[in-house]
Amino acid sequence: MKQVLIERYGTPWDVARCADVADVGAPDADEVVFDVLAFPINPADMWFCRGSYRLKPPLPATPGAECVGRVTAVGASVKHVKPGDLVINLQRENWAQKRRVKGDDAIPLPAGIDLRQAAMVRINPPTAELMLSDFVDLKGGDWLIQNVANSAVGRLAIVLAHQRGLRTVNVVRRAGLADELRRLGADLVLVDGEDLARRVAAETRDAPIRLGLEAIGGAATGRIADCLATDATLVHYGSMSGENPDVNRSNFIYRGVRLTGFMLGRFLGRRKPEKIREIYAALAQQVMDGRLSAPVDTVYPIDDIKQALAHADRGGRSGKILVCPNGAI
Ligand SMILES: NC(=O)c1ccc[n+]([C@@H]2O[C@H](COP(=O)([O-])OP(=O)(O)OC[C@H]3O[C@@H](n4cnc5c(N)ncnc54)[C@H](OP(=O)(O)O)[C@@H]3O)[C@@H](O)[C@H]2O)c1
Repeated sequence: MKQVLIERYGTPWDVARCADVADVGAPDADEVVFDVLAFPINPADMWFCRGSYRLKPPLPATPGAECVGRVTAVGASVKHVKPGDLVINLQRENWAQKRRVKGDDAIPLPAGIDLRQAAMVRINPPTAELMLSDFVDLKGGDWLIQNVANSAVGRLAIVLAHQRGLRTVNVVRRAGLADELRRLGADLVLVDGEDLARRVAAETRDAPIRLGLEAIGGAATGRIADCLATDATLVHYGSMSGENPDVNRSNFIYRGVRLTGFMLGRFLGRRKPEKIREIYAALAQQVMDGRLSAPVDTVYPIDDIKQALAHADRGGRSGKILVCPNGAI
């Protein structure tokens, strides 16, 4: 079977290759085997290849934080999925044609779900969902602000916030995205820049903003902090710039703004397995209904993993890069 391997850390499209490896074999009693139908290339996968992600396993290693698969075999004690079912996998190393995983890590998805969307259910939808629920008790009409608002997480946060009656200030780094994001339910769309806080205050008429979601780092974190109300919470959940947050200390000392962080595994880990399945079932239902979706730019076969990685690294994409290891879907 085919599997993506990296044998050294470095530029993703230089270090990753599609290799022929041994089959995963039959499942043990508590295991599930599935064919990987599709996986997205996420920013964290790029950092994994570069060796700058928090996980840096010995090499050779296989990237891949998420995927959708179709079950081909289950062990005798696995009862919650059967051959033919669609699943997502809570574990990594998914850039391969087949996976053999513990039954508890295989989360079933409804039959008939759009497979491209299903490939992106595991990480970004619960990230947006839990960042809206786990930090600040926002009520209908309250404002929040986020940057990378046109990212997959950002778009999902817009939709989920709109469903809750929350109002969103959406910060992007290039013009021309406003209409698209407004159609998702965005209230304000602003291009990032030095005078961001002044423009936000003018557009919201000085409304207090008690939650900020931030995934760029460096001075961009500080610009979101400057937009927040006294005692607000700023959640740093990614670093597209590769820089640490750079926030003016007056936000902490004079205004009591709290800077904290989010990592999906940490926040899911606080919940019982049944609750985790419940969260994914609700999100998958929203995908089924067409209420939640993430745009896809291009789909590649696994043999073209190098081209797919180079494309994923280019800014200004119109959506995610997906890879289908077992043929087009
Ligand atoms: N902590 C967690 O558990 C968790 C979970 C999921 C995602 N994340 C993080 O969430 C962020 C978004 O992920 P995603 O999958 O939604 O991303 P995505 O759909 O691939 O979009 C990437 C976004 O980042 C912007 N961007 C890229 N480089 C940038 C830079 N140097 N400065 C400013 N903006 C830049 C892009 O803008 P353009 O469109 O203009 O190129 C785009 O808005 C990432 O940092 C990811 O690691 C964290």
